[in-house]
Amino acid sequence: MLNRRKFLEKISAAGAVTLLPGIVKSMPVPAEAPDHDVAIPAVISTWSHGIPANEKAMEVMRGGGSVVDAVEQGVRIPEGDPDNRSVGLGGTPDRDGHVTLDASIMGSDGNAGAVCFLEHIIHPISVARLVMEKTPHVLLAGEGALQFALENGFEEHKLLTPETEKSWKEWVKESNYNPEVNWEDKPNEFHDTIGLLAMDENGDMAGACTTSGLGYKMRGRVGDSPIIGAGLFVDNEIGGATATGMGELVMKTLGSFLVVELMRQGRSPQQACKEAVERIVKKVPENKIRQVGFIAMNKKGETGAFCLQPGFNYALHQNDENKMIESKSYY
Ligand code: GLY
Repeated sequence: MLNRRKFLEKISAAGAVTLLPGIVKSMPVPAEAPDHDVAIPAVISTWSHGIPANEKAMEVMRGGGSVVDAVEQGVRIPEGDPDNRSVGLGGTPDRDGHVTLDASIMGSDGNAGAVCFLEHIIHPISVARLVMEKTPHVLLAGEGALQFALENGFEEHKLLTPETEKSWKEWVKESNYNPEVNWEDKPNEFHDTIGLLAMDENGDMAGACTTSGLGYKMRGRVGDSPIIGAGLFVDNEIGGATATGMGELVMKTLGSFLVVELMRQGRSPQQACKEAVERIVKKVPENKIRQVGFIAMNKKGETGAFCLQPGFNYALHQNDENKMIESKSYY
């Protein structure tokens, strides 16, 4: 593990060459110091399912895997957990009872891949990675994404479990087929996306984001998670950001891209996440009853988070400790 001083020396030298050849220019200095020691490798991810996902991502990097391997393998843990109601197998279905999945991945080379409205596949993140690595495209949707997955050896599974089927049938009775009833007074329910960012020992970053989306959504609805720049963005010169919560609010402000661009202008990850949430408050009237949370990591391995409503937390694996942190909120 690199300590903070050695790592900062390393990226200052690299930054001087990479950003402006011939001109010595130091990296932007964040105005707000992180409240924890900074070291790499580091992994940060949304919600408590981030703890086992971080653990796996760190294990992959320590075992010699690439940072893209790490983020993919990390988020496959909640994707494969039938008890996790917001990702992959066991994800909450749409209002017609279909589990439809969205995922995206970005590497340190700026390449990106994503799938949306994908059914019957437990690990959409691995299909997204194949889109990134084996096609000239970024996003495959629905039937086409499924066809691509099956052609590449993925198997079809039933993603609706007996438990999620029972909950859906109860929801249908209570809610009269209206997806909006879930949003009132329950800002933290029905959309616990996992977004995960990792930085390896060389300071290279990647990110992954995967979800079954808003619970009991309208059929065909796609959220922010597979939209590069909305649910996930990584720029290996600056840092990365990912989002959870009500995707529509994130899409209307291109939230993760905004966080990274604010970091590019010198904001700390914490300040950048806060300003992205403030942009939502300013621009999207529904902000008062919905949740959005951002997490971010910059090129120094500093991290931050901010959300609209109280109740969002995230997992940070850094300095040999994997722990939950409560995010500050706007309201
Ligand atoms: N953030 C996940 C979604 O809204 O689908």
